[in-house]
Amino acid sequence: MLTIALPKGRIAKDTLDIFEKTFNQKFEFEDRKLILESKDFKFLLVRNQDVPEYVLHQAADLGVVGLDVLYEKEFDLMKLLDLKIGKCRVCVGMKNEDSLDPNSPTITVATKMVNITKKHFSQKAMAVKIIKLYGSIELAPLVGLSDAIVDLVETGDTMRQNGLKVTETIMHSSAHLIANKNSFIEKKQDILSLYQKINDIIKNKD
Ligand code: PRP
Repeated sequence: MLTIALPKGRIAKDTLDIFEKTFNQKFEFEDRKLILESKDFKFLLVRNQDVPEYVLHQAADLGVVGLDVLYEKEFDLMKLLDLKIGKCRVCVGMKNEDSLDPNSPTITVATKMVNITKKHFSQKAMAVKIIKLYGSIELAPLVGLSDAIVDLVETGDTMRQNGLKVTETIMHSSAHLIANKNSFIEKKQDILSLYQKINDIIKNKD
């Protein structure tokens, strides 16, 4: 039996679709239930940012999570497979009329991704003050809370509709299958067989 933590929302649904195609079997959470058990798998429904915690502490053997969350957490986990779903970019954004001044002493950046932001600006040798927010990041520059944001961009609609532009792409992200290192040793055969089957199904996607 493999326990797999899925992030609530579209990625959980898309992952279960991949499992349905792979195993020719229906996988669907009942109403508000957070655990879905079948003969071989136990799926857990958790918050996106919490997936790495469940896998790190081996409450789940495997998890599905965006690369952005994985890089933000910097946990010691195994990255097994790109599921090619949940594609997006982590970008720096500013108001249309603003631009990043590399000579300004400090810029203020609002984000939920504090570590990625710190690393990015330190590589550019720019001093930043980071304001940690939990959502609606695009609002911050509009009301003078920050000079810039670091946030996820999928279609670009949220930035566009709020008069913001992407000034830099920090990284591309998509959902990946990750594993706990001990689980990988203890359940190697099961995990490799699952990896192989899913890989066969998704390898033709771009
Ligand atoms: C994410 C992200 C952006 C938006 C980007 O927010 O933080 O705000 O989606 O998508 P788009 O480029 O297709 O417009 P989410 O919906 O997760 O809500 P949040 O603002 O509460 O984090």
